[in-house]
Amino acid sequence: MGFYKSLSLVALATVGVSQAVTETRSLDQIHQAALKEGGVVTLWHGGSDPHQQDALKNAFEERFPGMTLNVSVRSSSFIGPDIDRQLAAKSVTVDSIFLQTLQDYPRWKRQGVLLNYKPAGFEQVYDEFKDPDGAWASSTINAWSIIYNKDKLIGIEPPATFSDFLKPEFKNKLIFTSPIDDDAVLNTFDLIINAYGVDFFWSLLEQNPRFAPHHLSIANEIGQPNTTYAATFGTTIGLFSQDPLVVHFPTEGAPFTSWAQGAAILKDAPHPEGAKLLHSYVLSQEYQNQTGSWSIRRDVAAPKGFSSIFSTPNTNPLDFAHWMYDRENVERFRFWVQDKIGYPA
Ligand SMILES: *[C@@H]1O[C@H](CO)[C@@H](O)[C@H](O)[C@H]1NC(C)=O
Ligand SMILES: *[C@@H]1O[C@H](CO)[C@@H](O)[C@H](O)[C@H]1NC(C)=O
Ligand SMILES: *[C@@H]1O[C@H](CO)[C@@H](O)[C@H](O)[C@H]1NC(C)=O
Repeated sequence: MGFYKSLSLVALATVGVSQAVTETRSLDQIHQAALKEGGVVTLWHGGSDPHQQDALKNAFEERFPGMTLNVSVRSSSFIGPDIDRQLAAKSVTVDSIFLQTLQDYPRWKRQGVLLNYKPAGFEQVYDEFKDPDGAWASSTINAWSIIYNKDKLIGIEPPATFSDFLKPEFKNKLIFTSPIDDDAVLNTFDLIINAYGVDFFWSLLEQNPRFAPHHLSIANEIGQPNTTYAATFGTTIGLFSQDPLVVHFPTEGAPFTSWAQGAAILKDAPHPEGAKLLHSYVLSQEYQNQTGSWSIRRDVAAPKGFSSIFSTPNTNPLDFAHWMYDRENVERFRFWVQDKIGYPA
C-alpha cells in the first residue's frame, strides 16, 4: 500500500499538472502576438470532408487579418495515432487538435503533452465541457440527426424515430456511414440496439441498406435526384433543413448521439500564440453565437427554435465521452457489427 502510494506520488511529481495559464489579453492583443510569431496556426480537425472546416478557416482569417489557419480534416481515429508518433519522435508540427476521439484527451493530459491553457471566456464554458486544469475545452456541440430527401418521399410518411426506418416503404432507400468507420455512428447503433433490442439490427439489414465509407457524404448521396437513397441517420448537415433535405431530431424512442468536440493545444506546439488565438476565438461569444449549433457556453443561447443541449429531449451530450472511454467495449461492439455488415462499400 505504502509502496504504491509513494510510487504514484513519484509519478505525479514527474509528470505533474503544470500550472494553467489563464488568458487575460484581448483577442486583438493575442492577434498581434500571433502575427509576430509568424501568423500561422496548424489545426488538425476530425471529420470526413477536407472542406468541412472551411467556414472556421474563413471566419478566423477574416477576423484576424494576416493570419493563416492551416487546417486539415481527417478522421479523428487516424489523427490521434499520428499525433502520438509526433510526440514519440519529439517533433511536433501540429499546434491544435479538435477531435471526436474524446478518450485521447485524458490520456494526453496524463502524459503531460497538452498545454494547460484557459482561453478567454473559459469560465463561461459549461464545466462538463472542459478540463478543470485547462488541458482541453470543447469547441462545438455536434449531433447526428435523421435526414431525408422530401422530394423522394412523396406520399410516404417521413421517418420521425429510428424504428420508422424499419417500415417496408424504406426498403432499398437507406444509406448510412458505416458504423465500423466512425465511432460516433457506432454509438448511434449501440443506443438503438440498447433501446429496441438486437432484432432492430436484423430487421434493418433486411431493408438492404448501403453502409458507405466514412469519406462519402451521405447527405450528398441522398440529395442526388438520380439515386434511390432517400433517408439516413448518424450524420449531420447542421440543425436546419436545407431543401430538399429535411433535418429531424427524434424526440422519442431511442436517443440520438450528441457530443462536445474536444479541443486542445499541444504543449510543444510550434505556434503557441497562434493556437491561443484560435482557441480564444473559438470559445468567444462572437464565434459561438454564429456556429449554427448549440453552444458550449452558458451565456450563448441555442439557435432559434432550439433549447440548450442539456434540455434538448432524447439526447445526453455527456454519454458519448463515457462510452468512448471504455475502448474494450467499443472495440468488441465494432467487431460484432463488422462481422455482420462487412467492410463499407
Ligand atoms: C501546415 O500543416 C501541415 C500538416 O498538416 C504541415 O506539414 C505544414 O508545414 C503546415 N504549414 C505551415 C505553413 O506551417
Ligand atoms: C448522379 O448524378 C451525379 C451528378 O450529376 C453523378 O456524379 C453520379 O455519378 C450520378 N449517379 C448515378 C448513380 O447515376
Ligand atoms: C448573438 O448575436 C446576435 C446578433 O449579433 C445578438 O443579437 C445576440 O444577443 C447574441 N446572442 C448571444 C447569446 O450572444
